[in-house]
Amino acid sequence: MKIIRAKDYNDMSRKAANIISAQVILKPDSVLGLATGSSPIGIYEQLIKWYNKGDVDFGGCTTFNLDEYRGLTPDHDQSYHYFMHKNFFDAVNVPAERINLPDGAQLDAERECKRYDAAIKAAGGIDLQLLGMGLNGHIGFNEPDEYFSKGTHCVNLTESTIEANKRFFASADDVPRQAYTMGVQTIMLARRIVLVVSGENKAETVREAFFGPVTPQVPASILQLHTDVSIVADEAALSKCGDLL
Ligand code: F6R
Repeated sequence: MKIIRAKDYNDMSRKAANIISAQVILKPDSVLGLATGSSPIGIYEQLIKWYNKGDVDFGGCTTFNLDEYRGLTPDHDQSYHYFMHKNFFDAVNVPAERINLPDGAQLDAERECKRYDAAIKAAGGIDLQLLGMGLNGHIGFNEPDEYFSKGTHCVNLTESTIEANKRFFASADDVPRQAYTMGVQTIMLARRIVLVVSGENKAETVREAFFGPVTPQVPASILQLHTDVSIVADEAALSKCGDLL
């Protein structure tokens, strides 16, 4: 596991965008695993700038997002479809037919999860998976649990995640209670993983996840066992790891 130290959010975003951009330059038909949330927004902004300058071309890429709320249609302004189009896809040239997210409007969970796993497999697996990390150490919507999850599945969101996400909805009552998410195994099967983390509020989780025991109680801790993972973290997020670095 490589820890890449960044000064602040902008520096973290540029460093992670550089890794993604290098991946796409070296392998133009890369399969990219993408994330939503506040952590990757700066990365998408940076990649759009480089795309506009002609420095990186997403025309050969295929993308798979980590997760989507169950019950939200793609045009709902809080769906991850909407987020990805607004923050990235509408500004770059990933071909529409090669953009993949779980379909929140498909309420048959078993069917949708099977379809998504089969699509990832058919694309040849994920070359580079971008991740953020929740305050409780979740990755995708894989919350602390008794065991690590396997393939794409439907989850009930925890109170802590509903609480963290309510800022994007009119009220906590409007936050969907379920989501489709790639499983921990799906994530671990990616050939390369880049996790970005910023801010002092995640400093304790960074210490637990990357320097503590590997446990499903801190889902991100499993990344310690992956052979090609880079954690791009800013000083604030690393502020509780001083003695360990
Ligand atoms: C997003 C996702 C989540 C977020 C995590 C951190 O697709 O799967 O695991 O990465 O909740 O969110 P932010 O970046 O908003 O702190």
